[in-house]
Amino acid sequence: MAQLVGYIPAVGFEAELERELARAGVRLRGWHGDRLLLADPPAVDPAWAEDVWVDARELPVPSIKQAARTLKALQRNWALLTPPAQVRRANLIAQQLPHVSMKPLAFPDRPPSASLGGWTLLDADRMLASPTTRSPFPHGQARFVEDRETPPNRAYLKLWEALSLLDDRPGPGDLCLDLGAAPGGWTWVLASLGARVVAVDKAELAPQVAAMPGVESRRDSAFALDPKVDGPVDWVCSDVV
Ligand SMILES: C[S@@+](CC[C@H](N)C(=O)[O-])C[C@H]1O[C@@H](n2cnc3c(N)ncnc32)[C@H](O)[C@@H]1O
Repeated sequence: MAQLVGYIPAVGFEAELERELARAGVRLRGWHGDRLLLADPPAVDPAWAEDVWVDARELPVPSIKQAARTLKALQRNWALLTPPAQVRRANLIAQQLPHVSMKPLAFPDRPPSASLGGWTLLDADRMLASPTTRSPFPHGQARFVEDRETPPNRAYLKLWEALSLLDDRPGPGDLCLDLGAAPGGWTWVLASLGARVVAVDKAELAPQVAAMPGVESRRDSAFALDPKVDGPVDWVCSDVV
């Protein structure tokens, strides 16, 4: 069975993904719709891909029921990537698959650890299915239960996503350096996890974040720090732009 690799780009960064893969020597097969770039194995880990279908294979779709049976025989959990055509047929197959919760994640809960496959229809009679995908989120789309009250901006979502993908996070007893910290979304995340934070920015931290327990605010350039003087830290988070 011919294997392929599928790359799902961050929206708006399709050209960057193509260039990155070409630079890595990956042989591209072309786009399926505008969300899935197909390529020859082996799978690489590009920065511009939100998800990678590591072991995609083409499978026959003799009927809706048989397609669902084929997928279920491979594994339980599947996320349908809406195809460019045959959307109704794809949805009918998806309805016969076991339910997979697509609920937003309540950070610091961890993303589901069960393997999540990706699949789509190539045409009425053929599908592409990858039992293994790199992201624990459907098609790499991290969705969280948002906090619209406490953090000073929405930057906290970037760090929630990074820590979720890393499957690790700072906690009590850890010292974090947050570079380019203002107005303080990331510092708010780190301090909320119980870590101590040295928040460095030329701009001011939001007062409610600066007042959180364990937060030390430094109005300085990140490039002025000297590890020999400032000492070791457990985590370095940098959002300097
Ligand atoms: C995207 S914002 C950071 C948002 C922040 N992570 C948050 O969660 O609220 C980028 C920040 O980098 C800061 N910055 C840019 N150059 C810097 C430098 N050389 N040293 C420290 N901070 C810098 C800017 O002042 C700005 O506040």
